[in-house]
Amino acid sequence: MNSQHDNRLIFFEILATSLVDNSFRRVTLSKPLPSTPWKRVVASVYRNSQHEIQIALEYDDGRQVRRENLAPDDAREAIQRLLDESFTTANLRWADENAQFERTSRGSYRLKRQIVDHAPPPVIQHNREKNYLIPPSAPFLVGLGIASAGRGEIKRERYDKFRQINKFVEIISHLLPESLTTSSRGVRAIDFGSGKHYLTFALGEYLRHLSPASSVIGIEQREELVTLGRDVASSLRWSHLTFQAGTIADSDINSVDLVIALHACDTATDDAIAKAIMAEVPYICVAPCCHKYVRKHFAPSADLKPILRHGILEERFAESLTDSLRVLALEASGYQTKLFEFVSLEHTAKNVMITATKTGRRNQASREALCALKEKFSLRDFYLDRCLWG
Ligand SMILES: C[S@@+](CC[C@H](N)C(=O)[O-])C[C@H]1O[C@@H](n2cnc3c(N)ncnc32)[C@H](O)[C@@H]1O
Repeated sequence: MNSQHDNRLIFFEILATSLVDNSFRRVTLSKPLPSTPWKRVVASVYRNSQHEIQIALEYDDGRQVRRENLAPDDAREAIQRLLDESFTTANLRWADENAQFERTSRGSYRLKRQIVDHAPPPVIQHNREKNYLIPPSAPFLVGLGIASAGRGEIKRERYDKFRQINKFVEIISHLLPESLTTSSRGVRAIDFGSGKHYLTFALGEYLRHLSPASSVIGIEQREELVTLGRDVASSLRWSHLTFQAGTIADSDINSVDLVIALHACDTATDDAIAKAIMAEVPYICVAPCCHKYVRKHFAPSADLKPILRHGILEERFAESLTDSLRVLALEASGYQTKLFEFVSLEHTAKNVMITATKTGRRNQASREALCALKEKFSLRDFYLDRCLWG
């Protein structure tokens, strides 16, 4: 039987050896001492762009996660210091073994080792994989059921959603200028048709990290989803995220920097665009969903019938026409636009994204092109047109 003091030495010996022979996978430090500013620290292994093994330490204070990348030897020193000075338990996963280390309130050391059956191969990921703007350990991911509680790992079946969230935040990071995101007043954002609020929380996490004064409002017509959002925000003590029950058309917005509306149904996307234009919102990001309205109202000429007699082609055509008209309406209202694929088609067919940045220069040619398209397809009624220009 080892003496209790030996347990500490054995644990640090396992840690050091695993970092040298590359059998280290991750260590989670938890149960902080009262003076410790973090709830937990997770250290995991990855390869940097030069293919060297590095250790990422993620310091989680319950609101934000700060990441530090260290060489294995420096990581060993940092982990040892954290365990001696700031945390009382550590769970080390290396090779096919789990080592659970604990320092009791009486100052003795316990060590429990356990062979883990069917251990998956070592998780040595490329740095690109690990450099997510929203890291897997972001606490809201647990609240929304994307990561598992305790381990802070993305659930296998929710990986697509996790990637989609990160892709979205990456797009927003390119859309908004740094002068705004890091300003002392922060960014005021609205998420129209926020649904289960994945993107509302992701935006809240990302913006708050850059400027603590940032805020996001989720507007959703389904009351039960609004309650869900409020519950998760309150469990995280996130007062910068608020939720309103109601429709986009009835909402009252002012002094907003960014409007997003992803996969809001049919004309809800038009309501969001119209609201944003009328409130002179400088940045807009929409990913349209179903496109029923134009399909019902357009009457293509006879020469297009051989194409549009196929339901699926007619649907896609109506989608393209609707989104082209939306882009033209934005340009005619003084915005510079981009239209691109959001996530790959294998994940969702609703994968077109439109972003718009206000320039204030109304594009007359776009307005004329919009009218010409409507005429060409005998589109008597285009919903967004009506919202904007009566
Ligand atoms: C497909 S979900 C998308 C949710 C979220 N934006 C996302 O991308 O994860 C669309 C949500 O928009 C809401 N919605 C649709 N039309 C709306 C409207 N006019 N006003 C407010 N919410 C609306 C629906 O209730 C639904 O929860």
